[in-house]
Amino acid sequence: MKKSCSVYIIRTTNLNIINYCYVVIDNETKKTALIDPSWNIDSIIKVVNNIGGLVEKVFLTHSHIDHINLADECAERFNAQIYMSEIEINTYGFSCKNLLGVRDRQIVNIGKTNVHCISTPGHTAGSMCFYCDGNFFTGDTVFIEGCGMCDFPGASPDDMYHSLRKIKSIIPKDTIIYPAHSYGEKVGKPFGYLLNNNVYFNIDNKEHFIKFRMRKDQKGLFDFK
Ligand SMILES: [Fe+2]
Repeated sequence: MKKSCSVYIIRTTNLNIINYCYVVIDNETKKTALIDPSWNIDSIIKVVNNIGGLVEKVFLTHSHIDHINLADECAERFNAQIYMSEIEINTYGFSCKNLLGVRDRQIVNIGKTNVHCISTPGHTAGSMCFYCDGNFFTGDTVFIEGCGMCDFPGASPDDMYHSLRKIKSIIPKDTIIYPAHSYGEKVGKPFGYLLNNNVYFNIDNKEHFIKFRMRKDQKGLFDFK
């Protein structure tokens, strides 16, 4: 079936932090959304201009600084509407220009492409993933090689366990996964690959999951396994 949208991957950096931001363009109308635009507005604008995109929306997976640092600038430059989960906004008091709260299962369109907002707490209290047309933008909830840390304020490994189960029950295996970070695996792998290779989708017992997620021998913030 013909895809209604196309995805462009942009890798941006700030010191030792590497983020993946995504440009989603509705193929028919050229209306465009940005997912977690961060650090380098020029590299994002370059891609948008190359594809003739008309940016009108920005989706933020959560409120950590490496995901929201260009929100105001995008709102200003493109007069874009900024979407973030209502729970995230209320829990952390996040604000930026043109901000609109969204709820679980709410649908927002980019031209003729529907974006399904899926609430996935765990890494933060109001983390949200966005599904559109066979693509799933997972922020810091799901990485190709693991899942997000659960020891920030408002985070919960119990919630993460349930969020991953929810994702497993609603996301088709051939969906392409686009996380906000990756330090080994390439972004853009099918969900079926994660089901076989990502350990967090393979721990069925909740207590085991929580113990493993919260273990103390991890190498640091960017050790996702
Ligand atoms: Fe984060």
